[in-house]
Amino acid sequence: MKHLTGLSGIPAATITEILDKAALHKKLFLEAENEIPRTLQGKRIVLAFFENSTRTRFSFEIAARNLGAVTLNFTASSSSVSKGESIVDTIKNLEAMQVDAFVIRHSSSGSADQISRITDKHVINAGDGTHEHPTQALLDIFTLRNYFGSFQGINIMILGDILHSRVARSNIFGLTTLDANVGVCCPASLLPGDITSLGVRVFTGLDDAIRWADAAIVLRLQLERTTGGYLPSLEDYSLNFGLTDERLEKIRKHMLVLHPGPINREIEISSNVADRIQPPGYSKSVLLEQVTNGVAVRSAILDMLLNQADRN
Ligand code: CP
Repeated sequence: MKHLTGLSGIPAATITEILDKAALHKKLFLEAENEIPRTLQGKRIVLAFFENSTRTRFSFEIAARNLGAVTLNFTASSSSVSKGESIVDTIKNLEAMQVDAFVIRHSSSGSADQISRITDKHVINAGDGTHEHPTQALLDIFTLRNYFGSFQGINIMILGDILHSRVARSNIFGLTTLDANVGVCCPASLLPGDITSLGVRVFTGLDDAIRWADAAIVLRLQLERTTGGYLPSLEDYSLNFGLTDERLEKIRKHMLVLHPGPINREIEISSNVADRIQPPGYSKSVLLEQVTNGVAVRSAILDMLLNQADRN
């Protein structure tokens, strides 16, 4: 595997290999940081974020530095992109400085695949438009595996703006490949047209989805899109699709709760659900555990792509 631009078509064995390596990286990161092997010593990794990020960018940076790589931070606003330079010319110029890999976030769907076709360096998709966010899904899947052990018979609901969510798409590809049962829950206006071909169960009512699910991946409501006629109002969305204590208690359903962040408190998730890391209650939130796991999963991916793939 030279690039990681999406989870569509990635076999179960490869996903499992990444998760197993991430478990080793997590142990070293939390318990023996000095013993992390510097397997990327001498490598240069460009963190090319054409769109804002907190979790993905910093966790890639920590992962890369822990492994001994040099990170080069690129933001569109402080680069010659602001003078009209194209993304292709930008990549070609950075490539000429002998970098080894590009971690790319861009608002255009398909941009990571496009870049992987014009460079012989490694390309990792850190989120491209509404297409895929494979490393986020892998850290979500890693977090779920830590709780459930395996995915056989586990029901995982993805709740929220499925239509515009790259996180949802990558999770659907990854989780169904691992044989989890995946359900999506959202207003009909936020369902993709091709949803039936993705092998997921569709819920248009949250109470039914809660009755079914063992875990919920709650998605950020993309507030910038609510003016596009997708939703009657934020209040309506929150009332019908917000994950709250009241709903969980009504159904008396214990549930593991994930969210990729950033969260809109009291819109798609209530603060008491988002912040409850210990029972008692009907939910356990693993939002910050996901963030820690992001470093481990991205360490495993960088190590596999830049080190293992280059050796083979
Ligand atoms: N989950 C996620 O991609 O967060 P950031 O936008 O902060 O990277």
